Order: sequence, then structure tokens, then C-alpha cells
Amino acid sequence: MNGMNLIESRKVLRKITPYLPGKPIWEVQKELGLDRVIKLASNENPIGPSPKAIKVLAGCLPELNRYPDANATYLKNKIAQRFGLTEGNLIITNGADELITLISETFLEPGDEIIVPSPSFSEYDFGANLMGANVVAVPLSEDFQFNIKDIISSVTEKTKLVYLCSPNNPTGTYLPRNDLEQLLSTLPKHILVVFDSAYSHFATSVDYTDGIEFVKKDYPIIVLQTFSKVYGLAGLRVGFGISGESIINCIMKVKEPFNVNSLAQAAATAAITDDDHVMASQEVNRVGREQLYQAFEALKLKYTESMSNFVLVELGPKANDIYHELMAKGIIVRYGNTWGMPEYIRISVGTSEENSILIQQLTSILNDK
Ligand SMILES: Cc1ncc(COP(=O)(O)O)c(C=O)c1O
Repeated sequence: MNGMNLIESRKVLRKITPYLPGKPIWEVQKELGLDRVIKLASNENPIGPSPKAIKVLAGCLPELNRYPDANATYLKNKIAQRFGLTEGNLIITNGADELITLISETFLEPGDEIIVPSPSFSEYDFGANLMGANVVAVPLSEDFQFNIKDIISSVTEKTKLVYLCSPNNPTGTYLPRNDLEQLLSTLPKHILVVFDSAYSHFATSVDYTDGIEFVKKDYPIIVLQTFSKVYGLAGLRVGFGISGESIINCIMKVKEPFNVNSLAQAAATAAITDDDHVMASQEVNRVGREQLYQAFEALKLKYTESMSNFVLVELGPKANDIYHELMAKGIIVRYGNTWGMPEYIRISVGTSEENSILIQQLTSILNDK
């Protein structure tokens, strides 16, 4: 008899399915015996980390016997300067992922509701489920645009958080500034809007907003940002939240003291001033997105124009087969089943060479069908 069998986890965990990340390169190489594997599955920066960040890391190594700065003082200071904020407006976290969990732990009681325009990033649901709160999914329109009327009409007295992911993962669509303003002005003031602009650096539309202007105008909003995307530091795990001091102070109560390690803090402090690397990353993304669009048009594939560093493509009933065939050829993309979209795949924008190889292989797979 196994004595462990009698130990029960919390009931709310029954609702949680573990997050399924994009397969790492080494795993696919090992499984398929391939020399080269291209990962276009996790919206990472294809040109690598900020060189300024790499440079500061070696200098931190002799100090690894010390705990990191619990307040992430230098990093907060740099971010505050960059965005014209005060340090009290900021919380630094172990990736934006941790911040989503912290927000859930801070604001959600069992039975509360969160509103999520869907499909979107799965961690919002995870945080709610963890706390025994309920997810109210509000479908995006047919072409994946946000429908603010539907969001407003989904509000009940139990609604605590409204998540808005802009640009939205996995669709690449965004919520225009005027729509956000209208939403913020209409929603009851006890509801916190969680505005996830993890991909803001890739958005090029004039009516795009990263949400920070609305923090400055004192609306009940928290903006989520990350160092995992344009700054290329996904492996170090740093993100941050921007909000009014009272919201930040509430979340600080549930944060572990040493949640962001010293290497991550130093690298992020350097990366945020590395404008050359940011601009180079944006340019590779802009050119790469166009390269993918042109290829999809030539292949007569329906895609959604993206304000981000990935593109959602409709492949029809054979999408799962195509996803596996790409994997067999050493190209990892994301299959849409994760979002209940079995006829789609999401492709992260790579370097122009990586995109070309993807296009070549996709073309040959489609020609064989
Ligand atoms: C919309 C969105 N928000 C947040 C995150 C999490 O970012 P981090 O790596 O900082 O945890 C991701 C990661 O892919 C994302 O797509």
C-alpha cells in the first residue's frame, strides 16, 4: 500500500491542467536525431539577448554568495526613469508569469470572476483557477478583434479583474487606445484592468497603446511588461508591473522577498538602456513578419495581421498533421489546440534565414498534400 495515496491536494487544483510549453530545441534534437532544430514556438527574440546584458553578467558572478536585492533598486530606478514613473509605481517579478500569479493571489477570493477576451494567454485562467475563482471567457470577434461591448456586458458583481492582452497572444491583434479609454471609463471602479503589453515593442499601429499613459492618468489598471521578448532575456525570468502605488503595495504583500535573482536584475538593468539591441530586434521582426505574410499569401493561407512577434495561420483540418510534419523536419511551431483552435498554428517570427527554412518546408509539405 502506498501511504501517499491518502494525501489530497486542494480541490480547486482539479481544474488546473499543467502549462504545456513549446518543446525545447535540445529535446526535439534528441528525439529526432536532428543536427539543426529551429524553434519558432515561444515568441523569443531570435537575435539573442542584449549584448549589454551579457557583458554585465560576468561581473556579477563573484557575488553569487549574496542574496539579491529584494527591492531590485537599480532596476526599478532605470525603469522609472525610462517611463517617467516613480519607483512606487513598480513591482519587479520572476517573469510576467509570476506577476499574474501574484495578482491572482492578491485580489481573487473563491467564487470571484475574471473576464478574459479569448483566445488569450493561458496563465490568466491558471491564476484564477488556483484561487478558486471563475473565468468568464468573452470570445473575440470572428477576425479576432476585441469587442468592448461584450466585455462590459459580461461584468457581474463578482467581477474582480478584466484581463486585456494587447497585442494579444496568440492572435497578434490589439485593443486600440480609444477602446481602452472607453472601457476604463465605463467599467465599475472596483474592477482592476490587467493590461498585458508583454509584446508592446513590436506594435506599430498609431492607435496602439502600451497602457502606461492610463496608469499615469490614475485609472484602475496594472500594466504587465517583460524582459523575455524584445530584450531577449527569457531564460533569466524578469518582468514587471506598473500601477498606482496602492495597487503595487497590495501585491508586494504576497511577493517572496528574493523573487528576482541577482543575474536577472543586473542583466535587465543593462538591457533596458540597450536601444541598439531593441531597435535591431524590432527591425528583424518587422522584416520577418513581412517575409512570412508574403509567403502565406503565395501559399493562399489565411493569416491574421500581427502587431507582435508571431503570426497566427489557418491551415484547415490538416493543421495537426502539418504541425507534426514540420516538427519532423526540425521546425517547432505552436499547434492551435492549446487555445481550442485545432485548425491553426502560431509561428514566431525568426531571423530571415529561419523564416526562409520554415517557408521552404511548409511549401513542400503543402505541395505534397
Ligand atoms: C501575453 C504574455 N504575457 C506574459 C508572458 C510571460 O512572460 P514572462 O516570460 O515574462 O513570464 C508571455 C509569455 O509568452 C505572454 O505571451
